[in-house]
Amino acid sequence: MDIGVGVIGAGTVGGGVIEILSANTDVIEDKTGARVALRHVAELRQDLLKDLSLNGATVSNDALALIQDPAVHVVCELIGGMEPAKRFILAALNAGKHVVTANKMLLAKCGQELAEAAIKNNVQLRFEAAVAGAVPIIKALREGLAANHIHSIHGILNGTCNYILSRMTYEGLEFEETLQQAIAKGFAETPPDLDILGHDTAHKCQILASLAYSTRVSLDEIPVEGITKITHLDVAYAREMGYIIKLLAIIRKVEGEIEARVHPTLVPETHLLASVRNEFNGIYVESDCADATLYYGRGAGRMPTASAVVADIVDIALRGECRALPPFVYTHDIAVRDIGLMEGRYYLRLTTEDHPGVLGQVCTTLGRHGVSIASCIQKSQSEDTPVHVVLMTHETIESGVVAALAEIDQMDFITEPTQLLRAL
Ligand code: HSE
Repeated sequence: MDIGVGVIGAGTVGGGVIEILSANTDVIEDKTGARVALRHVAELRQDLLKDLSLNGATVSNDALALIQDPAVHVVCELIGGMEPAKRFILAALNAGKHVVTANKMLLAKCGQELAEAAIKNNVQLRFEAAVAGAVPIIKALREGLAANHIHSIHGILNGTCNYILSRMTYEGLEFEETLQQAIAKGFAETPPDLDILGHDTAHKCQILASLAYSTRVSLDEIPVEGITKITHLDVAYAREMGYIIKLLAIIRKVEGEIEARVHPTLVPETHLLASVRNEFNGIYVESDCADATLYYGRGAGRMPTASAVVADIVDIALRGECRALPPFVYTHDIAVRDIGLMEGRYYLRLTTEDHPGVLGQVCTTLGRHGVSIASCIQKSQSEDTPVHVVLMTHETIESGVVAALAEIDQMDFITEPTQLLRAL
């Protein structure tokens, strides 16, 4: 079977897709029997095309012409962002073309609208590349684990943040220095705020939560904290207590509700996710029949992301008339849980004057809110300078910790707001 591909946007990922369609069509045909051919490329910046093998494909600067091209069966939207990407995807679906996209922000915000257009036109909307790049987590959730109820998903879903935190952890570097390196390596979004403030992870979290539970989880229901407040001190104290700090998306079913959140998390160094380093992504899924499964690989970068785009094209070619159930079709209506109800262990780094009674008052206040201390580190250098007191709590309810800190941070010996991080 032959399938004609149109690529809108020949930047980092689009250029990678064009490279794969030039160099690896034989391996695709050997494995699947599908002949996948590049037929049309639409790109405003023609200079991006000069080093690519286009194998006779039509080149234009007009995405709508590509969509209408009868030689194109699958349209790959690889320009990213909201508009005009959304307009192009809707135009392609309404023209009866299958669509493959890596556009996580657009899917997280408008997935349902795009899915409805796909259903109406009896075509497929695929997005393996939108979450964790080369790692086939979408296929795993939709097919590999189809027989399972998903208990929880813990994901390192942003290569830039994982790269920054890894270099802070293992090389003692500071945040800003490592961010510049991640930008230079081409993992980061433009601007990188989407990465470091946690929003890129939240987009991916929304997509995974929707898929795992077939229920609508709005982006604004997902509490998001990025990694900008993490210092080398936190990284070092966490390690001393046996933890590695990771930015996690956590999706769980708790008491009939969905918990979906993104924040830096202290992961025990014995947990499989603690060994996912640098720009790599890792997703740990727990389900009723398969039990724990782990997915690992490159979550960012030209060729890994392009590999996932081409996998979707091949899947469309192989499925023929057998349509996958479109994503973002919500067969359940499950409430999203308030983060205040969350139960877990908490890392608290207090910055305080060092004099008698300080720890007593802090612990009494925590105790009054039902928070019990599991361990404590204090490294005092002199009585004249503020010190850090790091406390790890036992399992407790988040609202109690937050209420206690609101009081503690008002105490006159506390010299900076307390750092609160959650632990697995
Ligand atoms: N900026 C993203 C990351 C790219 O660093 O993971 C892949 O979505």
